[in-house]
Amino acid sequence: MSAKIRVLIADDIAATRQNVTKLLEFHPEVSIVGEAATAEEAIRKVRSVKPDIILMDINMPGMDGISATEIITAEVPDTSIIIMSVQGEQEYLRRAMIAGAKNYLVKPFTGDELLQAVKQVYANEQKRRKIVKFEPRMQEMGKVITVFSTKGGIGKTTIATNLAVALAAKTDAKVAIVDADLQFGDVGLFLNVIPQATIADLVRDIEHLDDKLLEGYLAPHNSGVKVLPAPLRPEQADTVTGAHLAQILKTLRTMFQYIVVDTAPSFNDAMLAVLDASDHIMVISAMDLPTIKNVKLCLEIMETLDYGEDKIKLVLNRANADSGMDIREVEQSLRHPFAATLPSDGKTVVASVNRGIPFVISNPDMPVAQSVFNLAKTIAGGYWQEPQATETGGVVQKLKRLLG
Ligand SMILES: Nc1ncnc2c1ncn2[C@@H]1O[C@H](COP(=O)(O)OP(=O)(O)OP(=O)(O)O)[C@@H](O)[C@H]1O
Ligand SMILES: [Mg+2]
Repeated sequence: MSAKIRVLIADDIAATRQNVTKLLEFHPEVSIVGEAATAEEAIRKVRSVKPDIILMDINMPGMDGISATEIITAEVPDTSIIIMSVQGEQEYLRRAMIAGAKNYLVKPFTGDELLQAVKQVYANEQKRRKIVKFEPRMQEMGKVITVFSTKGGIGKTTIATNLAVALAAKTDAKVAIVDADLQFGDVGLFLNVIPQATIADLVRDIEHLDDKLLEGYLAPHNSGVKVLPAPLRPEQADTVTGAHLAQILKTLRTMFQYIVVDTAPSFNDAMLAVLDASDHIMVISAMDLPTIKNVKLCLEIMETLDYGEDKIKLVLNRANADSGMDIREVEQSLRHPFAATLPSDGKTVVASVNRGIPFVISNPDMPVAQSVFNLAKTIAGGYWQEPQATETGGVVQKLKRLLG
């Protein structure tokens, strides 16, 4: 059963207080939590009792109902006021509404009129609170950026980890990375983060999921990025479902501005849930024919899933690899422009993976790192902090220091 509406009655005439009590006391939805004979007493009681509604007489000796309404509205905004008046007090009524009263009743009123007003004002207040609570949450909503491809070994994890660190380094945003490559995830390895707990452990606790619980499962990287690692063993992958991932991403959105998701090269239930929940999908391609054929299929499936142009960003990795193909040709064949292209740079990339230090930190001036920064910039938009030429070293030095 839902909570009762808690009502306080403020009227200097005892008989009126009794009448109003009689009209409401046997109603199962209402509970009378107090009475006051003066406006001052009403204010005192409201502070301690915090009723949902006050039925306030407009004319009381000493302070009147209008002044009391002004004070209570300012001090205890969760309490709503219904003004009670007699005929001919229209001007007072107008002033009471301006002071913050939510409704008024002209004496004498029936039990039905009274109950109707109480229920109406209460319902409006509940609605208002929901909207007020919802709005700041909406503003906090983080963006989910998923790095995906139907081809394995194409550079998803390389791009996802560097992208997350680039976003953390060049914005003030809070950034998380989720390793949703549930069988063979290696985000922890790429970032040199040793997981204390993984997404499989979190899922065992999923019925208690909230931001506090989730925070406990995140491993910190020195760049500030928080990591939700993949299960340690492939056989644990099945314990994490698409529904779990959707729920986890929804919670992360309330905690972080950017949530980068690394994925497995498959359109299974879990990956579909991630793709559905994404704001941006970075589809990674390369310049060889089997990959192009695969990516073309991938884009077609995404079209049937109604993912709009805004959601999909095509990224070409290892662009200068000796493929005998022209980038324009690939774009035409995929009927999509590339939002970013990363050059092939085995020396920088492999060394960075082996050391567990993203190349946007270890080699920020290399073209491959600059490409990731450019990609990150398209996501961050106005939140991107372009350092002055002299500061570039500063940001990098800071990160290098952090990494020891
Ligand atoms: N731009 C690049 N230049 C040179 N080597 C690269 C580049 N991008 C990725 N690589 C290398 O390609 C290999 C595969 O990269 P990565 O693990 O990021 O791919 P993946 O798509 O996540 O693979 P999987 O599907 O197995 O998870 C790695 O050895 C990485 O160092
Ligand atoms: Mg990978």
